[in-house]
Amino acid sequence: MGMVLLLATGCEKKKGENQPENSVITAADRVEKGRYLIMTSGCNDCHTDGFMQDSGKPESNWLTGSALGWQGPWGTTYPPNLRLTVQTLSEQQWLDMLKTRKGMPPMPWPSVNAFNEEDARALYAYIRSLGPKGEHSPLALAPGVEPQTPYLSMMPQNLPLAVSAQ
Ligand code: HEC
Repeated sequence: MGMVLLLATGCEKKKGENQPENSVITAADRVEKGRYLIMTSGCNDCHTDGFMQDSGKPESNWLTGSALGWQGPWGTTYPPNLRLTVQTLSEQQWLDMLKTRKGMPPMPWPSVNAFNEEDARALYAYIRSLGPKGEHSPLALAPGVEPQTPYLSMMPQNLPLAVSAQ
């Protein structure tokens, strides 16, 4: 509604970097831009319970985390409640986390590490604007620990022998 988005991508790319520093998304303000990035980057698919089943509604529940575990060789992880996360971090701490953190699957850390600083600021502004809501998600479990919550198994199946023997 009244939001203006413009994507301009520069041709030059710094060697060895995934981050397109010259890409600029302009929006009416940081909050609108953050909302756009959350919506288009798929963050809600994991960080909002029932998002895929409910066709994305309601926005008031966005990013409140999930107690549905994702289990794989790394153990079981739960998408945290980002509405609570941003309450505990300064903007600078948020920027540092998005840029440098190498965490656990299935969180797409390489994608999030590639947000440029202005996009990361917009995400912070938008998530803060939603306000705190909900509970903390369960803590991650080590491999071999049986979850007490529902979970999805992401164990690789039927791998070629050469790969599974590694
Ligand atoms: C495929 C599922 C999935 C998607 C998609 C996803 N996340 Fe995550 N996210 C997770 C899981 C699981 C964790 C916990 C693992 C970890 O902390 O390394 C996590 C952790 C995080 C954390 C750390 C929060 C804290 O309190 O420690 C942040 C920040 C985050 N995600 C932001 C995002 C953003 C922004 C997007 C969209 C660009 C996104 N995530 C998309 C699953 C996902």
